Amino acid sequence: IVDRLGRGPLSGRHILVTSGPTHEPIDPVRYIANRSSGAQGTAIGAALVRLGAKVTFITGPATAAPPEGVSVVRVETAREMLKAVEAALPADAAVFAAAVADWRVSSSSGSKIKKDGSGSPPSLSLDENPDILATVSRMTGGRPRLVIGFAAETDDVVANATAKRARKGCDWIVANDVSPATGIMGGTENAVTVIDDSGAEAWPRATKEQVARRLANRIADALE
Ligand code: CTP
Ligand code: CA
Repeated sequence: IVDRLGRGPLSGRHILVTSGPTHEPIDPVRYIANRSSGAQGTAIGAALVRLGAKVTFITGPATAAPPEGVSVVRVETAREMLKAVEAALPADAAVFAAAVADWRVSSSSGSKIKKDGSGSPPSLSLDENPDILATVSRMTGGRPRLVIGFAAETDDVVANATAKRARKGCDWIVANDVSPATGIMGGTENAVTVIDDSGAEAWPRATKEQVARRLANRIADALE
């Protein structure tokens, strides 16, 4: 919480947050995207501002509005998001809450693809997008002190997320079970497990705002 002098535990810290989905164009009217409202990312941005951080909020086309008090950078594609992240560095910490599309169409069409009447759909060739979290985690100069990734999983949540943390080289990974039965995707609540060097910490299911505040407090403690 910011005091009367405008100081909080994250005053003087610059934190970068990615949020929302990315859209990868197929043609001018169609795209590939992940499901993401951006609600958890927005809540995290707001919680960091509340603790006094200067926040650069890099967002794809999300339905949730960006939080108050951040510098907003709007992007469309994964490659644009990577460029915006690199331009926003240096930062003390980076939180990668975006649901980045893993693939883009190799050569998107400048004009609308029309049905040709044959009943056979077009085939799309895909390329893998850059991994923004891994790129920043592996930086040799200017890496943020604390790099936090997310892992949305439907099976073996903790095992998959632990492997993902090692693969990407981030400090913490915030794992959640996004199986349809949990109702978390598109909902107002989240149940996460935070994995770091010392193991996995399961947090009770709570609103996305409560999860964000707990995460922001943990970030403030780590940067102290
Ligand atoms: N991420 C990223 N850039 C990408 C893909 C993912 O920065 N191109 C980040 C996400 O923002 C998230 C973390 O990496 O913080 C994990 O994303 P996830 O989709 O769970 O991981 P992937 O490595 O893409 O693995 P999967 O095959 O399970 O989708
Ligand atoms: Ca992915």
